[in-house]
Amino acid sequence: MALWGGRFEKGVDAFTQEFGASLEVDKNMAQQDIAGSRAHAKMLAKQGIISDDDQQAIDAGLERISGEIKDGSFPWDVNDEDVHMAVESKLTAEIGQPGARLHTGRSRNDQVATDIRLLAKDLASELMDGNLELRRVLVEVAKKHMGVVLPGYTHLQHAQPVLFSHHMLAYSWMFARDFTRLKAAYTAADANPLGAAALAGTTYPLDRQYTTELLGFDHAIPNSLDAVSDRDYLLDLIYACSVSMMHLSRLCEEIVLWSSTEFGFITLSDSYSTGSSIMPQKKNPDFAELTRGKTGRVYGDLMALLTTMKSLPLAYNKDLQECKEGPLDAAKTLSDCMQIAAGMLETMTVNADTMLAQAGKGFTAATDVADYLAKKGMPFREAHRVVGELVLYCEQHGKGLEDLTPAEFKAASELFEDDIAQDLDSAGIANARNTYGGTGRKAVETQLAEAQASLTADQEAAPSK
Ligand code: ARG
Repeated sequence: MALWGGRFEKGVDAFTQEFGASLEVDKNMAQQDIAGSRAHAKMLAKQGIISDDDQQAIDAGLERISGEIKDGSFPWDVNDEDVHMAVESKLTAEIGQPGARLHTGRSRNDQVATDIRLLAKDLASELMDGNLELRRVLVEVAKKHMGVVLPGYTHLQHAQPVLFSHHMLAYSWMFARDFTRLKAAYTAADANPLGAAALAGTTYPLDRQYTTELLGFDHAIPNSLDAVSDRDYLLDLIYACSVSMMHLSRLCEEIVLWSSTEFGFITLSDSYSTGSSIMPQKKNPDFAELTRGKTGRVYGDLMALLTTMKSLPLAYNKDLQECKEGPLDAAKTLSDCMQIAAGMLETMTVNADTMLAQAGKGFTAATDVADYLAKKGMPFREAHRVVGELVLYCEQHGKGLEDLTPAEFKAASELFEDDIAQDLDSAGIANARNTYGGTGRKAVETQLAEAQASLTADQEAAPSK
């Protein structure tokens, strides 16, 4: 008989029972459930609602159950609808009456909301740690390969040479913003619903501030209806995961391209590559591809929960039971993918010569050649046209800008002198761009120090510290 079985004459059949249950997914928040119950019991005793003896029996019993769940010896019963029932039935079976008093002034509605908020805080906090580790690796890789030049692209066409470190740091800033989003999700979850009871509060003199302190929440939620029905913080968390997965998918797409024969910019370590069962030569970037692919399931988690929440009337509805798998899946997926990305970056070989050779191809010096003319007094628009015609000339004659003779330059404009050769060097071109945020070495060194400072500040701000 279920704990709520008093008003029923018969139970549901086995399939219906299983359909309505959330025990499997709830196992992920069993420790949070026990923490919530211990805090509730302690508060009930402080308020004189249950005796100190009852509270001590409850506390010792719950501690025992917590240990059994951790070591795997807890006898989960498939007939229990959810973790709240499973823990409470076991407690009451073990300690009798005091166990049956635990649920005084509480409903599973505020109980489950408490558990999920504690879980969301734990998930966000673990993700922040993973985010920091990934950024540490990006900053380290940027530092290690300072000076390496590769083509920068727009439309995936060669545009202008940039520093590889600049490219890596661009990703470190994306992940720095993800940290902010994860922290915001943590803050959104950091409020205590316990004491809202089923939906309306309770006649018992509960001390909601006390459970707020015991459970480490920032504050108690001021509206009991909102307390039991809000799942916004889970949406915030999955959204933060979705954006971060999107960033990882972009990074992984570049890893896939860069490790292809056509690019050859990087060589992935064997420990982050796989072979083919038929083609002996193959070395595939499976883990980058898989990360790119897993982005889809995290977006799916976000859409699923948004849709579950749509149009739900206040207050608790059983639909809300569906809200747990998505965040757990999104958090696990992002956590795994961040770890994989950090590993790939840390162990890959950077083929600096190949990058540099490609950086000069595709007329990437064209802007600097136009700037050369503009700096000698030619209006930039005119210089743009002159160099455009030079590029056309080169294409028609199968040459690069660096292959042109001084006479060919002069034929395009009298303003060209022999020193134009200096403006065709890819490293020189990249390193000359030292405006704040630019790709020049000096600017990138400043940026590296800022990325490191942002990382240190976030390390200190992470809740796990
Ligand atoms: N298993 C439920 C859930 O996960 C717990 C709350 C159930 N409350 C209720 N009144 N049926 O949402």
